[in-house]
Amino acid sequence: MKRLLLLSAAMEISMSMAVAQVQVQQLTTENLTNPIGLDNTQPRFSWQLQSNKRNVLQTAYEIKVGTDAKIKGNGIWTSGKVSSDQSLLIPYNGSSLTSGKRYYWQVRVWDNQGNTSPWSTPAYWQTALLQPTDWKASWITQGFDDNGPRVSPLFRKEFTSGKKVSRATAYITAHGMYEAQINGKRVGDAYLTPGWTSYNKRLQYQVYDVTGLVQQGNNAIGVTLGNGWYRSYLAWSNSKDHYGTDVALLLQLDITYTDGTTQSVVSDESWKSSTGSIRYSEVYHGETVDARLDKKGWSTAGFNDRDWIPARKENYTKSTLLATYNEPVKKHETFKPLRVFKTPQGEQVLDYGQNLVGWVVVKASGKSGDSITLSHAEVMEKNGNFYTENLRAAKAENTYVLKGEGEETFEPHFTWQGFRYVRVKGYPGTINPDNFTAVALYSDMKPTGTFTSSNPLLNQLQHNIEWGLKGNFLDVPTDCPQRDERLGWTGDAQVFFRTASFLRGVGNFFDKWMKDVAADQLPTGAVPHVIPNVLGKQGGSAGWSDVATIIPWEMYLAYGDKKILEQQYPSMKAWVGYMSSQSTEQLWNKGGHFGDWLFYSVNDDRDGHSAITNKYLIAQCFYAYSTQLLINAATVLGNTQDVATYTTQLNNIKEAFRKEYTTPNGATTSNTQTSYVLALQFDMLPEAQRQQAADRLVKNIKQYGNHLTTGFLGTPYLCHVLSRFGYTDIAYSLLLQETYPSWLYPVKMGATTIWERWDGMKPDSTFQTPSMNSFNHYAYGAIGDWMYRVMVGIDTDDDGVGYKKITIKPHIGQKITNAGAAYDTRYGKLSSAWKVENGKLLLDVEIPANTTATIYIPANNAGDILESDRPLVSGNELQVAGTEPGYVKLKAGSGIYRFSTKWDSKK
Ligand code: BGC
Repeated sequence: MKRLLLLSAAMEISMSMAVAQVQVQQLTTENLTNPIGLDNTQPRFSWQLQSNKRNVLQTAYEIKVGTDAKIKGNGIWTSGKVSSDQSLLIPYNGSSLTSGKRYYWQVRVWDNQGNTSPWSTPAYWQTALLQPTDWKASWITQGFDDNGPRVSPLFRKEFTSGKKVSRATAYITAHGMYEAQINGKRVGDAYLTPGWTSYNKRLQYQVYDVTGLVQQGNNAIGVTLGNGWYRSYLAWSNSKDHYGTDVALLLQLDITYTDGTTQSVVSDESWKSSTGSIRYSEVYHGETVDARLDKKGWSTAGFNDRDWIPARKENYTKSTLLATYNEPVKKHETFKPLRVFKTPQGEQVLDYGQNLVGWVVVKASGKSGDSITLSHAEVMEKNGNFYTENLRAAKAENTYVLKGEGEETFEPHFTWQGFRYVRVKGYPGTINPDNFTAVALYSDMKPTGTFTSSNPLLNQLQHNIEWGLKGNFLDVPTDCPQRDERLGWTGDAQVFFRTASFLRGVGNFFDKWMKDVAADQLPTGAVPHVIPNVLGKQGGSAGWSDVATIIPWEMYLAYGDKKILEQQYPSMKAWVGYMSSQSTEQLWNKGGHFGDWLFYSVNDDRDGHSAITNKYLIAQCFYAYSTQLLINAATVLGNTQDVATYTTQLNNIKEAFRKEYTTPNGATTSNTQTSYVLALQFDMLPEAQRQQAADRLVKNIKQYGNHLTTGFLGTPYLCHVLSRFGYTDIAYSLLLQETYPSWLYPVKMGATTIWERWDGMKPDSTFQTPSMNSFNHYAYGAIGDWMYRVMVGIDTDDDGVGYKKITIKPHIGQKITNAGAAYDTRYGKLSSAWKVENGKLLLDVEIPANTTATIYIPANNAGDILESDRPLVSGNELQVAGTEPGYVKLKAGSGIYRFSTKWDSKK
């Protein structure tokens, strides 16, 4: 009977699947899949529609939330059937949530074709500690003095868990970095926790499901602390202890037993402290691990801790504590050395073939006291010797001392390195590449974009952009991962944001970082140069501080989430306010600026070839742009008063620009590529003068033999401006340029990441000045945005942000026969790929359900276009909506389409 029932239930499910034309999948809560530890009291739900039909739009949804996986009836909250096409970020609106509890939710949808989906598979989220009083743990620090070498302290605590555990959750944070173990097993797979925020104002804790680690009977928790960003040397002039001189731990383990009773194990003075094998650990300088000092079994029950010293309770604040929404740093790709070789200087070096960020896991067998030192480098110098000068003061060295008891495995814990090459000293025995595994570490954001083309150099450029992102997205967006810097430079982050948004799901990562931008903004409204700010009261540089307006706006475009604008609005306004306060009649010509950082310049410049753009001209352009973005945000948020005020101000800013920096004929006074690019991109010139300015830009590019001369600020917009003014051919010739300065020059020189400078390595293999020469700096990777949005041509519409309304407008390039990209929007997969073949242009397109698209087919009239080998027929899913020079415009619903049209490759 039971079997029969099961069978009929299974049949019912499979039948409902068979008839279901629309399904719901990819459920996320606050953009995360089944997150543990959200402190949001109204978390927001998103889902994707899946259908094998074209032109699918959601017309209604129904959500229900319950406290177990089988949500009975309406659960604890139901939205009821809501007529809406919204499938992203719908807030929970039920009764208040309880701390540390798991909630389950399901959704079903109705579509425009009369279909109803089955209820989705339930997703869940677990709440964090919602009230400060939920924290029963105390801050503790080691009970001994650590003024000397700052050996990493260990903390331990034993406890008995009397009954069968239903759920165990650990809440952990630290001053410094932490690694926790329960019964000898690592808690979670996150590294460099608790991540980096403006600690004095915002300190994140992580929440772990440790049900599988806690056992009935005796248990032990062990935690190691490292200096981390909290008190390592950071920035320059030997400055350390940016947030304090202590390291400290806050940990709470909440256990619920199957009988419903609970138990908490919390950090307090009953914990004991000692030291272990990590003798030294610094972000820039590396780590020393002495396995002889390992306390074997220290995080398991029954370990003899008689000599350990009671931990000290500290009164540090808990008011700054926050749950974590950004994806933690995790281990990703692993690499074995491609080559093991001896340099002319006789040093033993491993080559991993990829400039990556993370560390090397080493296996070794030797005598007690044998010491291995690994040093890291990005490049080898001209003569084939190991080169670390460009790391400046960062030692980037890990030292491992063997215990001498068979094979031992080492890796660092609270530091990382940026490297392609590793020098090995003191290794006992011969080097077997299998014993040296490099591991890439970076924030665990979902990969969202892939790009391919017929040009292998461009594909390598994309690869380099991607590895620039991986290496520099370690909890905060950094400038570089290897030298004594690794800081959240605001300018770098803003120029690269849009590109990054194609490659990874960067929404939560930047949401967190933008909160730090606001938290660290100076009282004047100036934004510090780096966030989290460890440089003191410096800030206000044009193009750097504008991160305050640019990233929120671009995030809104990429993800369609208004919350980022609401959240950042005061910060955006304060930044614009700062520029106003520094201006005289809206002309901002004061203060220190980085300008068009690292633009093309030549030594002994007698002919005036260096592309120097007046820093105040740049400042005026960004002043206008930020004001425009503030107006945009105010418009979205319905703040009409601000729209009016800032629109008047913007007109005056542009007027001041024209008077000060343009000639009556519309040339810019600097007459550089960057000056035209910014003036055009930000609409600084009157309509009538724009095309001639674009012509001047092109003339300038030609004067440099089809080379760019732009630095950090001009480069991101260069190709966009060229395309906008009808010069896509010139944009392509810059993109495909192989000699310096260009994007492909480093590729030709063997780069595997984006370089800080156009000529980090010269054609004769000598280097730029070591004081500023990173080989992993993502700023110039900003061209990735043009490759996705213009070359392949996928973009969101301004009136349907977050890809609710999509534009597909490919730009077919010279010498390239195909290019395509796939991008996982929050609605689902969007892709476009064009190919020129046998006198035909093929265009394959996929548009996610619950979105619509405008597709521009490069053709002269609709009659020339076939779709799936048939002439175009206007219907619900596809309508011809007119022509534009060179394109036929179609309106399309979701689905997969294959277009083809005649193509004359010579045109
Ligand atoms: C960093 C940059 C940063 C710049 C500002 C450098 O040291 O590496 O990328 O934007 O300083 O001038």
